[in-house]
Amino acid sequence: MSGTDSAVADYLIIESLSKEFDGFLALDNASLTVRKGEIFALLGGSGSGKSTLLRCLAGFEKPSSGKILLDGQRLGDLPPYERPTNMMFQSYALFPHMTVEQNVAFGLKQERMPKTLIRKRVNEMLDLVQLGRLAKRKPHQLSGGQQQRVALARSLAKGPKLLLLDEPMGALDRKLRSQMQLELVSIIETSGVTCVMVTHDQEEAMTMATRIALMDQGRIRQIGTPDEIYEQPTSRFAAEFVGSINLIEGVIEQDEPGFVSIRSDVLPVLVHIGHGISGFEGQEVAFALRPEKMRISKCEPEQPHNKAKGVIEDIAYFGSHSVFHVRLPSGYKLLVNFTNQQRWASEDFTWNDQVWLFWKNDDGVVLTV
Ligand SMILES: Nc1ncnc2c1ncn2[C@@H]1O[C@H](COP(=O)(O)OP(=O)(O)OP(=O)(O)O)[C@@H](O)[C@H]1O
Ligand SMILES: [Mg+2]
Repeated sequence: MSGTDSAVADYLIIESLSKEFDGFLALDNASLTVRKGEIFALLGGSGSGKSTLLRCLAGFEKPSSGKILLDGQRLGDLPPYERPTNMMFQSYALFPHMTVEQNVAFGLKQERMPKTLIRKRVNEMLDLVQLGRLAKRKPHQLSGGQQQRVALARSLAKGPKLLLLDEPMGALDRKLRSQMQLELVSIIETSGVTCVMVTHDQEEAMTMATRIALMDQGRIRQIGTPDEIYEQPTSRFAAEFVGSINLIEGVIEQDEPGFVSIRSDVLPVLVHIGHGISGFEGQEVAFALRPEKMRISKCEPEQPHNKAKGVIEDIAYFGSHSVFHVRLPSGYKLLVNFTNQQRWASEDFTWNDQVWLFWKNDDGVVLTV
């Protein structure tokens, strides 16, 4: 890798970062790297340490140990205003008495940039967020989404190397959220800025981020693309945090290099896995299978493994698809997705139907932690 490549790949380096508050570890030895131009999401439940990590990047919090490097520069003890970073707050913190353009110009004026340059930069920013025609309005004359775009324009005006967003959609209602998620991504990508965002909303992280760090109790549990986190969770925690999933507890019965079988008390037959795993015979594991990987039929499938018979106990309708809750004789309930397009005339399903659920060798993931 050449020097330039590594500067792009390791644009932001966070190394063994910890933050302690009165003996409580809010951030526990977190390490990650962010590439230039990435939108990187910190995802986790309440109190998992997301904001603490973000505030350490912004300089509002001083880490107890560890280091942060941005574009080769150690941020160390630099105060927030001396860092090449900018944080956009959930409430946007717009100045109510200033117009849109005055809000965007604020930071540039403080830097004593010449007036003509300020005007040029503000216009560029307002074009970027498509608010040129509202330049003379005050924040209270704007919708929530427009206010957010002003805040973003203001954050980007000084050309920060790193944009920090804490729950950027927190103040918006659900419908506006999904629209703004895509708009925000497009603005961030156009500006080319590198971004670290915090969210507790897995859908938001999946929609917006190039990569995600999943956090729990101050620790980073998994880092990956949205796809990797969803398809290849490495722990029960990750599997359950993102999307819904069936977790079937069992024991490894056979452990070959290219094949593994699992025996579970809740299933009538063995689970067969078409690849090796790092485990050992007799080890307790969880087999994780997404509801959309499971198939359903009224006829018994021919395959001798990877199947279970049960009764449809509940049906949750979501418009484009339904989720069936199928109770097995063991009492265990499996979730299966049924896309409404899949409805074929001969097989329709309703409450109390006896059904077979089945899946392929490589549809699930074996979790050892
Ligand atoms: N200034 C502080 N003093 C003491 N404890 C703090 C302080 N700031 C955060 N904490 C604690 O650190 C932990 C992590 O807090 P943090 O704000 O990083 O969580 P979060 O993941 O952003 O959660 P949320 O989704 O609720 O915003 C929490 O248990 C919190 O109570
Ligand atoms: Mg927070």
